[in-house]
Amino acid sequence: MPNRTPFVGGNWKMNTDAQSGVDLAKALASGLAGIDAVDVAIFPPFVYLRDIHNTTSGSDILLGAQDVYNQPNGAFTGEISIDMLKDCGVSSVLTGHSERRHVIGESDTIINTKTRATLDAGLECVLCIGETLDQRESGKTDAINEHQTRAGLEGVSKEQLANVVIAYEPVWAIGTGKTATPEDAQDAHAKIRELIANMYDQDAADAIRIIYGGSMKPGNAAELMGMDDIDGGLVGGASLNADDFLEIIRAGVPQNA
Ligand code: PGA
Repeated sequence: MPNRTPFVGGNWKMNTDAQSGVDLAKALASGLAGIDAVDVAIFPPFVYLRDIHNTTSGSDILLGAQDVYNQPNGAFTGEISIDMLKDCGVSSVLTGHSERRHVIGESDTIINTKTRATLDAGLECVLCIGETLDQRESGKTDAINEHQTRAGLEGVSKEQLANVVIAYEPVWAIGTGKTATPEDAQDAHAKIRELIANMYDQDAADAIRIIYGGSMKPGNAAELMGMDDIDGGLVGGASLNADDFLEIIRAGVPQNA
């Protein structure tokens, strides 16, 4: 069985404020002392990144951004570049999150250009994919995952793939309290890994981390992350509570660690 370090990310979305964000980051930094078998990242709102970087630098927490723009600079009102994120200590970027696909309306092309801009700059990219309820009910889960993975990774080299984490997040499970069963999630993850083997090769497929997102919480995290092809989680709601998020991270520590 390939040895993949689990990855657990906390996607804060449009939550927290200046003080509560720093408090949460502080609680995580101290709670994580001694846990090094899991890669942990937090994705706070842009405007708090710098303050939170000051809080987490010196800890093992990776700082991530929820989005990025695909151009280096210029007349793009309201957008944030990779270099700006780097200035704030960011090393990981989310692309393709379902809220950006389905609420903001980002296309596959935009998501691909953001993914490539992130990887070209040497940062880690967490590419999110996943089907809606309608798509699941009409048996299209694997086809949607394949389409979003191929489109998201178009033009990404095998070397760059080493900096990619894929987050499988069924849209119907995000923020709804409904979670995919561990078996259903495992099945989707195994198919995504098979696809990566077809697109790249078996080594790349064995190495890539595929994490689950969608109402992950302390009560279901161990079972989900215990599945062979589930290498961690992307956590929204439960990442806003330090105790819950730390419990999820602990559930991700491999049995032999
Ligand atoms: P949730 O969000 O844990 O609140 O369902 C997950 C995500 O959107 O990444």
